[in-house]
Amino acid sequence: MTPSDVKATLSFSDGSPSMDLPLYKGTIGPDVIDIRKLYGQTGKFTYDPGFLSTASCNSTITYIDGDKGELLYRGYPIEQLAVNCDYLETCYLLLYGELPNESQKADFEYKVMHHTMVNEQMQFFLRGFRRDAHPMAVMTGLVGAMSAFYHDSTDINNPEHREIAAIRLIAKMPTLVSMAYKYTIGQPYIYPKNDLSYAGNFMRMMFATPCEDYKPNEVLVRAMDRIFTLHADHEQNASTSTVRLCGSSGTNPFAAIAAGVACLWGPAHGGANEACLNMLGDIQKQGGVARIGDFISKVKDKNSGVKLMGFGHRVYKNYDPRAKLMRETCHEVLNELGLQNDPLFELAMKLEKIALEDEYFVARKLYPNVDFYSGIVQRAIGIPVPLFTAIFALARTVGWIAQLNEMIGDPEYKIGRPRQLFVGAAPRDVKPIGQR
Ligand code: SDX
Repeated sequence: MTPSDVKATLSFSDGSPSMDLPLYKGTIGPDVIDIRKLYGQTGKFTYDPGFLSTASCNSTITYIDGDKGELLYRGYPIEQLAVNCDYLETCYLLLYGELPNESQKADFEYKVMHHTMVNEQMQFFLRGFRRDAHPMAVMTGLVGAMSAFYHDSTDINNPEHREIAAIRLIAKMPTLVSMAYKYTIGQPYIYPKNDLSYAGNFMRMMFATPCEDYKPNEVLVRAMDRIFTLHADHEQNASTSTVRLCGSSGTNPFAAIAAGVACLWGPAHGGANEACLNMLGDIQKQGGVARIGDFISKVKDKNSGVKLMGFGHRVYKNYDPRAKLMRETCHEVLNELGLQNDPLFELAMKLEKIALEDEYFVARKLYPNVDFYSGIVQRAIGIPVPLFTAIFALARTVGWIAQLNEMIGDPEYKIGRPRQLFVGAAPRDVKPIGQR
């Protein structure tokens, strides 16, 4: 963080004393105005619901240029990582700041792939859920419950504990997600096979049964691995900010990550991929491409409450680079499966084309985001729609951990405690009940 030569001067029209506020420059991206002394010197708070203009931290992990539609993990463009690296290399990069060399990669892969089993007791925890529970309800419970099983890695202020918890979470999320899935369909759990790739092992745990093994199709495994990479981290989004705020109390890493899972579930955030596929399915049922015009009219009608799911983004005011890569992955997977004319994919591309030519979307800089195509790929691979967000959580776990560890490792960090503008009742006295 480099102090800028420029200062911000805050002055008040009522003659209250003005105040100079320091500015800091990052490597790239907007400068920040340091308001940490504002309340102490002026008795005033800033006001920024939704944090549209607020930087909550300084970070070295992920950079997004929303206007250009660029996404960098530790300085590397997502387009290069998605093509040249696999998910575990990306995990190493996000956690430790550099891409691994061959021996570092082999060592990291060995560690992750030899922590894939969960404590046998966890299957009994699952039994408490209804079979038709939403997988994200199950995952919120399972991830939080990990703190009841792995006591030797719960001290967030101990770097060794943080390292062990990171490996355990990355390694066990695929096992937990596949258990959540198997539980809802009444099939037995499939144990991990450590000689498979990370994505291949996940797909086998999802689709194999004790009666018939699953031979992963390499094109589908590569697509699954790329989906993980594209979802791995994304700066200070809602669930990452949740993990940081939760972790700032000093709680254990499993509890902090469980809070991120809970936040990601929302349809405005990670739940959008499930909502987008349901939206496409509804349009298909009502007549498909011929119904797009009516649907877009509904979206543009403020009173309808209907949104074009998978479109729009708080930061991207250009095409989400992940959506472009996801659309390419769509083509690869559908071609591999002989589903080139998949009606939902056709519908999605037509819907995208019409929206991008419509003034409502152009004026608001609404473009497809990562969730617009991810559901179509996952559905083609055989992932059930309700599991999409759980897979998003699986992939984002490394980003949450990297961001949490960066915060805890920062000597300046404090417990997060925002203030408010109080607009409620002024002080008043309680009246006896007979006088109320
Ligand atoms: C993710 O933050 C991250 O980085 C998240 C994420 C990550 O990797 O962590 O990228 C993952 O969450 C992607 C976003 C997935 N959500 C969706 O696809 C749901 C649909 N999108 C919207 O709900 C919305 O675009 C948000 C929530 C994503 C962003 O909302 P903002 O930034 O608060 O923007 P806004 O709601 O103020 O919208 C500005 C205008 C409004 O219209 P006006 O009031 O100006 O007339 O655009 C409209 C909105 O009504 N608008 C949409 C729209 N998104 C915004 N109108 C129709 N359809 C949409 N999808």
